[in-house]
Amino acid sequence: MYKIAVIPGDGIGPEVVKEGLKVLEAVSSQVGIEYEKRVYDLSAERYLKTGEVMSDSVMNELKQVDAIYLGAVGDPRVKPGILEREILLRLRFELDQYVNLRPVVLYDKRFCPLKEKSEEDIDFVVVRENTEGLYCGTGGFLRKGTKEEVAVQESINTYKGVERVVRFAFEYARKRNKKKKVTLCGKTNVLTYAFDLWERVFSQVSSEFPDVQTDYAHVDAVCMWMVKNPEWFDVIVTDNMFGDIITDLGAMLQGGMGIAAGANLNPQGVSMFEPIGGSAPKYTGKNVINPLAAISALGMMLDFLGEKVAAKRVEEAVRKVVREKLKSLSAGKMGYTTSEVGNLVVEYLLKDEKV
Ligand code: IPM
Ligand code: MG
Repeated sequence: MYKIAVIPGDGIGPEVVKEGLKVLEAVSSQVGIEYEKRVYDLSAERYLKTGEVMSDSVMNELKQVDAIYLGAVGDPRVKPGILEREILLRLRFELDQYVNLRPVVLYDKRFCPLKEKSEEDIDFVVVRENTEGLYCGTGGFLRKGTKEEVAVQESINTYKGVERVVRFAFEYARKRNKKKKVTLCGKTNVLTYAFDLWERVFSQVSSEFPDVQTDYAHVDAVCMWMVKNPEWFDVIVTDNMFGDIITDLGAMLQGGMGIAAGANLNPQGVSMFEPIGGSAPKYTGKNVINPLAAISALGMMLDFLGEKVAAKRVEEAVRKVVREKLKSLSAGKMGYTTSEVGNLVVEYLLKDEKV
């Protein structure tokens, strides 16, 4: 019996999570998975009402579950940074989810913005470091509000933090068994301390994986290659900030934020699964947002729980809905509402006979 914590969160979060849970219910009864879910109302709404973002006791409860399923965090009524830091980043950090795994997969070339690229060209994963770098929140102000102001924001990179995420990337490339190639995405020509450490660790770890090819590109060049030759990539490993940026670009190659899923992983602890698109406030409550990213994130959750058959089935159903039904992957243009897309995935799951 799995214990699943559900955090619908803000904006369109609740709408897409609802569709994900529909799919979880369908696939679970189909392949015989038992779970118990508990919903946590961590959100802007709750913060505005109570002044509290997340209590320590909730944080402790979340340390005891098997997985967390998250919708979205962020609301225009709350100053940027509060909810992000005290919900999303707090969970990533305190649960030590040191890998942010973000697949970039094109299910249907109709939705790729790149000319002359198709499904076989866009199939790689970004392994984003998820607990360090510029996201640590280290820094401060001097003489704030004056013309002599100084603002410092530091990037923290530790041997332990870099080593474990780089090792994960190599192991993942081996397990994926596709091109078996890991590309380090950095900026060794400017960030001469941080990426010096990354480069040394990368080369050390790579020596234990003689069957995996290595490559290096600066982050700006990675952006260029992602557009020009995405077929060169298999696994990209990078720091927190660069990973954040290149995965939005990656989402566009897949057809948009509506299809891009991600997993915040602690392979030894509690992991959290989320669509990477954010709360999209302007679409809230309209039943027009694409729930497939959230449904794919649910598929990743099943995979990491070890429910490989269920995970595969969800991925196949999503792929079929994209290829056979949708007119577009974008909000309001799919040809279906949010809940209809969820129903379609369930329909495809149920008619796929090979259980
Ligand atoms: C993401 C988001 C978050 C991040 C924000 C909401 C803090 O952009 O998951 O990519 O920067 O990590
Ligand atoms: Mg982001």
